[in-house]
This record gives sequence, structure tokens and C-alpha cells, in this order.
Amino acid sequence: MSSLLQDLQEKIAQVLEKINTELEEVKNSADLEEIKNKYLSKKGVFTSFMQNLANASSEEKPALGKIVNEAKNKVVEKVNAQREKFAASALNAKLAAEKIDITLPSRHSFSGSLHPITLTSRRIENWFSKLGFVVRQGPEIEDDFHNFTALNIPPKHPARAMQDTFYFDADTVLRTQTSGTQIHVLEEEPLPLRMIAPGRVYRSDSDQTHSPMFHQCEGLVVDERTTFADLKGILTAFLRDFFERDDLRVRLRPSFFPFTEPSAEVDIGFADKNAADHEIKWLEVLGCGMVHPNVLRNVGIDADKYQGYAFGMGIERLAMLRYGISDLRMFFENDLRFLSRFSAQY
Ligand code: DAH
Repeated sequence: MSSLLQDLQEKIAQVLEKINTELEEVKNSADLEEIKNKYLSKKGVFTSFMQNLANASSEEKPALGKIVNEAKNKVVEKVNAQREKFAASALNAKLAAEKIDITLPSRHSFSGSLHPITLTSRRIENWFSKLGFVVRQGPEIEDDFHNFTALNIPPKHPARAMQDTFYFDADTVLRTQTSGTQIHVLEEEPLPLRMIAPGRVYRSDSDQTHSPMFHQCEGLVVDERTTFADLKGILTAFLRDFFERDDLRVRLRPSFFPFTEPSAEVDIGFADKNAADHEIKWLEVLGCGMVHPNVLRNVGIDADKYQGYAFGMGIERLAMLRYGISDLRMFFENDLRFLSRFSAQY
């Protein structure tokens, strides 16, 4: 071995030992970078080793150069390893500092709920849908023909005065009842027909039990064999299911509507537990009857072949009874304390 080689190896061994000790003792990445600059920069010890090789013979140079480079690479590796160690421990410290305790309960959260009118309307729709009724919606801005005339309420008929109508002009109104949807559906769809039509209606009236906008649900069946008994049966079954009481009393009282003949109002009866003789308390819930032949004729249906029954109910009224709400205005005030009572209901 040439003396030059031996000399170089000794020097490198010394330098490596020194650097290794420094690298093992280094405490933080700033110091690490300083060590790196000190030894690995252009002014560092490895550069001067290389420069010294200028004196070596050309046969020896490659081997000597290789030794210097290998030593330098060892230092680079060690610096990189230390750097990774510092980066990992910095990351761990950061993660520990920012740790989120996912087992803590979250802050109070509110889940939304459907409006009791929507709940009630859906309850009605679902029940009748199961019996094959289609659900239809008529327009809220209605012409005189659909809201009145076709329903057997001709101009100047006193029944027009029963409903406090909002007029746009002589021929255009905000519908006062969902009954007009009967006419739209009869004009458009083939017979036989079973449909219900929930929706908004408008009347110029406002107090504790009346709102200028409220909701109704219309029902209509037209077929070749429908009877008053069918009507009574279906409404009784519906009301018992709606109020979830098999023993609910249902009573039909003769009444008048221009578009049905005969007509009836339907009352439901609860035994009044406070009364001495458990007297039944009756509450009116809807209007109904056999479709007046004039209504069928007004839309070109043969009234000798077809007949039907119809009914109309106030959705607010049914909701008030079902949920025990005493003031109609609660539905329209959007008070969250009231509305959130319904979040778990159907
Ligand atoms: N449209 C009536 C009202 O607003 C309710 C009604 C009664 C609808 C009898 C009907 C019916 O279909 O047959 O007071």
C-alpha cells in the first residue's frame, strides 16, 4: 500500500470519527445543519481532501478519489438519517399538541323536523295511496269555472257567499277549496278514478280558528258502482286509523254542499271521561257526499252510467285534533319551540 493511500485512510478515519461523534450528539436540526455545512460544503474537509489528491499519481488518483467520495457519502447518509429523525419527532410533537379527543360528545346539534301540516298531509296521502288513490295537485290560482261553476255553484248562487273569496278579477280567484281539483282531474284522466288532492286554499278570514291560508285534502271516487255505504266505510276506516283509535265513533249528519247530493258532515266522537255518564263529545272533521250529477255533466261524463263520492277535510283541523293543538296560529308562526316537538313524529 502506498504511503499516500495509508495516510489518506488514517486522516479520513479520524475525520469520520469526529463527525460521527458530533452527529450522534447533535440535539436539534439547526445544529445538524451547521454540522452539515461545516463538513460537506465546498469549504469543507472533503473538498480539501480532493484538492490534496492533485499531488497523487494518475494511477492512484481514481482509488484515492473513491475513498474520499465513499467517506463523504457516509456522512451525507448519516446527516439525512438524523434529519429524518428530527422531522419525525417534530411531527409527533405537533400531532400530540394538536390531538383531538374524538370521544368527547359534540356540541348541541339540532335535527330538523317536518312541519306538522306536512306530517298530517303525508299521513293522509299514505293511507289513501294504499287503497289505490292517486295523489294530485291543482292550481292555487283558479278560474271561476273550476272553483265554482263546474262544481254546481253557478254565478249568483248563494253558496258563493259562504266562502270569502280573494278575487284577482271577475274570473280569477285564489282557490277557496281543493274541490276544484276534482274538475281538473275529471277533465284530464280516464274513469274509473280514485284520487286525493291535498293543498293550500285561501279565504278572507282570520281569527283564532281561521287563517287566510289553510290546507285541505280533497277526495274523489268516480266509478260505475259507488254507494254512500262505500263513502261511509272508507271515511270511518280512515278516521280510526288516523286517530289510532279502533273505538272512535264516526257519525254522518245531513248537510248541504252544492257539488254533492246527498251531502253530509262527518263528526268524530270521543267518550268524555270527565262527564258523569261518559257522554260522547262530537267534533266535526269533514264534509262529504255523492257527487252531484251536474258536476259530472259539467265535464262531459255520462251521469246515468257513472256516479261517485267526494269528501273534503281541513288538514289543520285534523292536525290540531291529532296533536292536541289548541290555537290554529301555532302552525303559521314558525316558532322553533313548537315545531321541534314534531321531530320524532310521523
Ligand atoms: N269544499 C268544501 C269546503 O271547503 C268541503 C267539501 C265538502 C268537499 C263536501 C267535498 C265534499 O268534496 O263532498 O267546505
